[in-house]
Amino acid sequence: MKVSVIGAGNVGATCADVIAHKELANEVVLLDIKENFAEGKALDMWQTAPVNMYDSRITGSTNDYSKTAGSEVVVITSGLPRKPGMSRDDLIATNAKIVKSVTEQVIKYSPDAKIIVVSNPLDVMTYCAYLTAKVDPSRVFGMAGILDTARYRAFLATELNCSPKDIQAVLMGGHGDTMVPLPRYTTVGGIPVTELIEKDKLDAIIQRAKVGGGEIVNLLGTSAWYAPGAAAAQMVEAIVRDQKRIFPCCAWLQGEYGLKDIYLGVPVKLGKNGIEQIIELQLNDDEKALLNESAKAVKEVMNVLDGIDF
Ligand code: NAI
Ligand code: 2OP
Repeated sequence: MKVSVIGAGNVGATCADVIAHKELANEVVLLDIKENFAEGKALDMWQTAPVNMYDSRITGSTNDYSKTAGSEVVVITSGLPRKPGMSRDDLIATNAKIVKSVTEQVIKYSPDAKIIVVSNPLDVMTYCAYLTAKVDPSRVFGMAGILDTARYRAFLATELNCSPKDIQAVLMGGHGDTMVPLPRYTTVGGIPVTELIEKDKLDAIIQRAKVGGGEIVNLLGTSAWYAPGAAAAQMVEAIVRDQKRIFPCCAWLQGEYGLKDIYLGVPVKLGKNGIEQIIELQLNDDEKALLNESAKAVKEVMNVLDGIDF
């Protein structure tokens, strides 16, 4: 079983490292356009194997997609990250060219792969990969919801001084400031979060989660990688182990939630076939309004992509 990660930068390298460490595949291929970059990172990671006691083989490649041939899952992280003052949408033109050219190569060498897109702006880059790959949308989806939910869950765990393991949450919408955390679907050890925390504190946590990516960009001067890399690896795990896990993922909607022809974050079941089910929650009017607002923001950027000749 082979899993490839395209882009050996911060997120890609972290993701490959987690995949190997967890032995999710016996072959992990890291590929980057920068000469020798993926080879160097892969070699360094492989040298952690005797220390960390795993035997997944990690190799690196400079843009040679034949090395990725026959991958079960491919994670696309290639593209520019945000700098302070930039929104994810500012990356569209540059990253669309990269995601398109990468997807062409991925699908040429791994026609049956499930493709997880991480590059930003996430929802629109997933759409870009889908348009390029021309395969069933159940096989092309994006990682954002696990990360955004993880940020929300981590902030709640800090506030409640409890284990993040016990916090379950759903977050929907686009990977941007219009994302929609859903307190009505947030529980702590099975207890509704609203019974454990005052409304103003919960509202502040929700707001912090919504701009959680920007908080890290302001601290580091570039975007996050530990949590994004781990989140993408968790999606790989659900697929290669056919776990049928329920995660918020960026999926192609065809009428679900009253939305059509749009990639947006929704709860899905993830297994060996990729997205095996899109789960439709019974949202109330306020939640629906927030989701529609988020969908509108994503659709505007999708329209920008549709207008670019690349
Ligand atoms: P990075 O700059 O550390 O790594 C990107 C890598 O992509 C670089 O090594 C670069 O050489 C490579 N690359 C560029 N063009 C390529 C091509 N045509 N083929 C192969 N490799 C190519 O950036 P980082 O921090 O790893 O972020 C990667 C992307 O992921 C960015 O677009 C960032 O905004 C996005 N991101 C998305 C998140 C999400 O939740 N969906 C979270 C964090 C980052
Ligand atoms: C993040 O949320 C910037 O999308 C990136 O960290």
